[in-house]
Amino acid sequence: MSQPKFVPGSLDHAIFTRKSVRAFTNKPVPKELLKAIVESACRAPSGTNTQPWRVYALEGDAKNGLVNEVCKIHDAMAKDPEIAKEYTDSYDYYPQKWISPFIDRRRQNGWSLYGLLGIDKTQRDKMHEQQQRNFKFFDAPVGLVFTLNTVMGRGSLLDYGMFIQTLMLAARGVGLSTCPQAAWLAFSKIVLSHIKAGPDEMLVCAMSLGYEDETALVNTFETPREGVDTVLSWV
Ligand SMILES: Cc1cc2nc3c(=O)[nH]c(=O)nc-3n(C[C@H](O)[C@H](O)[C@H](O)COP(=O)(O)O)c2cc1C
Repeated sequence: MSQPKFVPGSLDHAIFTRKSVRAFTNKPVPKELLKAIVESACRAPSGTNTQPWRVYALEGDAKNGLVNEVCKIHDAMAKDPEIAKEYTDSYDYYPQKWISPFIDRRRQNGWSLYGLLGIDKTQRDKMHEQQQRNFKFFDAPVGLVFTLNTVMGRGSLLDYGMFIQTLMLAARGVGLSTCPQAAWLAFSKIVLSHIKAGPDEMLVCAMSLGYEDETALVNTFETPREGVDTVLSWV
């Protein structure tokens, strides 16, 4: 992707260098830095300043415990698809019924990523393994879990998106990378129990956070965008 040249440290630099990173180094993220990033994210706007976000940071044993539990179930699901019925997404992040152009973009995204990694449709084991990278937080040192109080309305998800994007840009501003993850939604009950969430909390999504492994092939993945004329109409 040809990127305009932006001044390092500028907001546009953070916007244009942010991408979903799917392989991280083991370099730790200092707690104070993580706190500062979340503090920046808290500056996001929300309807009537409700600030509906709640973030759980998992590192070390706390992260590994969740990873092990979910990977075990994910493996079991591959052997027995009946098990999948016990795990449903915490909310309808994706539509029940897909239509164009969304399904086309989704397919293009998925197959381009797998194509880059040399995985084709027939290689079920490899696909499973790559999908499972999600549940290892792509080896990032920090896994973030975002929850929302179930009393809140759909608008709070709009507020939440702003919070999460602000967090990702703040992270980029200090040289960190992220991958927001809806993949965890299916395992919502395990995630919520692991973080000891209250009965009124639902899982919004999770996120891998850390320093990009710049040697990893998967991180060369580039995603296109529709041209501005497709998005913007003058009335
Ligand atoms: C809310 C949300 C959930 C996502 N869930 C996943 C996920 O579970 N696994 C994954 O690899 N990427 C996930 N992504 C990343 C998207 O695939 C990615 O943002 C999109 O392809 C555009 O690429 P870019 O982020 O590199 O610009 C998610 C993105 C968002 C915003």
